[in-house]
Amino acid sequence: MTFFGTQLTVMDAPLLGVNIDHVATLRNARGGFFPDPLAAAVLAVEAGADIITFHLREDRRHIRDDDVRRLKAEIKVPLNFEAAVTDEMLSLIEQTRPEHVCLVPERRQEVTTEGGLDVVGQFARVKDACARLAAAGCRVSLFIGADPKQIDAAAEAGAPCVELHTGPLAHAWWDDQAGPLQTELERLQAGLRHAHGLGLRTHAGHGLALSSAAGGLQRTFSSTALVAALPEVAELHIGHALIGHSVFVGLRQAIADFKAEAIRARQTGLNRSPA
Ligand code: PXP
Repeated sequence: MTFFGTQLTVMDAPLLGVNIDHVATLRNARGGFFPDPLAAAVLAVEAGADIITFHLREDRRHIRDDDVRRLKAEIKVPLNFEAAVTDEMLSLIEQTRPEHVCLVPERRQEVTTEGGLDVVGQFARVKDACARLAAAGCRVSLFIGADPKQIDAAAEAGAPCVELHTGPLAHAWWDDQAGPLQTELERLQAGLRHAHGLGLRTHAGHGLALSSAAGGLQRTFSSTALVAALPEVAELHIGHALIGHSVFVGLRQAIADFKAEAIRARQTGLNRSPA
């Protein structure tokens, strides 16, 4: 089966990591306790989330330290703790001992995580962090762009996983630009294959959505389907568009919709009617 000239094979669907940051964003807008990201995580697990993902940012703009403690105490599926490579965060991770950690770049002014981690440029620091977190029993992933140099550096730094940044693909998808979308899809697949060839487990995430998010605009495939169909993708991490979708259909249904989209894309490839 081919799509955009790319050979696709049928494999199990990727696991779905549900990022609950934006439940906390909504809570923090009024400064109280509602909606509670822990309650959302409990519901997400009941609805089929394989992993609960959260990003404890330096400025605590959404998830807070107490949320992390409560999630660790209550959630029985793996937690994926996203954090910057700082001493403060590494210490908090060592105290929390989540199953998974994803190291991300972080700039205070950014609206969301804008680029990938520069593993090449801060190699020693990232390598030390990987060793420190592995010693704490955490499976470490590095959030990087689909750049062979960064992928090579991630493998050399000792990370067992990489999460490739789907932001550029997602932007091309939102803008409905077929040329850039194809370029980004090919870049992503080449990156996934390269990483896979080095023995890394490969994840993907950022900006992924369902076609319904594009409003009245017609999309042949959702960005989630485009990425989920790539056979090297073992995990998808999705937040903003999933929580956005839940405003219209409820969180349980939103998770079911994203899971179904990923499973369908993986099992049937993209040889199907528009999403
Ligand atoms: N993966 C990583 C490493 C992220 O930092 C984020 C955003 O917090 C996501 C995935 C999810 O991105 P989005 O909220 O756009 O789905």
